[in-house]
Amino acid sequence: MKNDEITAANRVAWEEAAPLHREQNMPRLLERFRQPGYSCLDEIETSILNDIGVGGKSVAQLCCNNGRELISVRNMGADRCVGFDGSADFIAQAREIAAAASASNCEFECCDLYDIAPGFDASFDLVTVTIGVLGWMPDLAEFFAVADRLLKPGGTLFIYEQHPIMEMIEPGKQDEPVIWNYDYFDPTPNVDTEGLDYYGGSTYESKPLYWMIHKMSDVIMAALGNSFSLVHFEERPGHISNTWYNVEHQGPLLPMSYTLVFTKPS
Ligand SMILES: C[S@@+](CC[C@H](N)C(=O)[O-])C[C@H]1O[C@@H](n2cnc3c(N)ncnc32)[C@H](O)[C@@H]1O
Repeated sequence: MKNDEITAANRVAWEEAAPLHREQNMPRLLERFRQPGYSCLDEIETSILNDIGVGGKSVAQLCCNNGRELISVRNMGADRCVGFDGSADFIAQAREIAAAASASNCEFECCDLYDIAPGFDASFDLVTVTIGVLGWMPDLAEFFAVADRLLKPGGTLFIYEQHPIMEMIEPGKQDEPVIWNYDYFDPTPNVDTEGLDYYGGSTYESKPLYWMIHKMSDVIMAALGNSFSLVHFEERPGHISNTWYNVEHQGPLLPMSYTLVFTKPS
């Protein structure tokens, strides 16, 4: 299967899931973002973004979903913010949340990550990638090339992701057994048709979704294939996704998440 066929199929599956997420999340998010300065970001992300410094910065988020994280960065003091996502419905949700937050400096673009228009090149001080993005990317080298071209010289790339070791385990509720099912060293796409209702918890026969395990060293080396320098890398025990609740409470601690910061030369 070609990479563009993977991303096109995934777009259909995300579009199918978007109304379910809307029903679960939008009333609560609209209410929260009407409060000036509201942020949905956790302490780890907030602390690293404070260290990087977002005040007055231009920020892009790759695969921004409903924009809640980017609007939170804007509420921390960022200037122009642009979120990119392939799902038209999620982009519509992002625009609704931005309107509720009176965040007129937040824009949302519906496009495939690999097709972001050259007009955005060298436009951003900070590019963010958070929670549940890299596993959908069939080509990591190209992914980081996009992040690189969007950044201004001297810019920063921040990644806060679930650890690829987690992808080896079947998703599970708190009391369900931990089932190791996928090879950490096999990057070929896996296909799933159990849907993406990770907020409501229902399963449905979904359009096919293709996801990949990119091992930690592949993520770092793919980023370093560009002009980036690595300035921060931390593997963490914290559970940041909406899956693997079984892992959190059972057995020895695993790295469930990680943070990475790269800088682009001035
Ligand atoms: C799990 S969400 C992660 C985003 C955000 N951190 C969140 O928690 O909502 C994944 C998002 O990636 C988007 N996505 C997946 N593949 C994409 C691609 N090739 N181009 C653009 N967006 C993509 C989906 O539409 C979805 O909104």
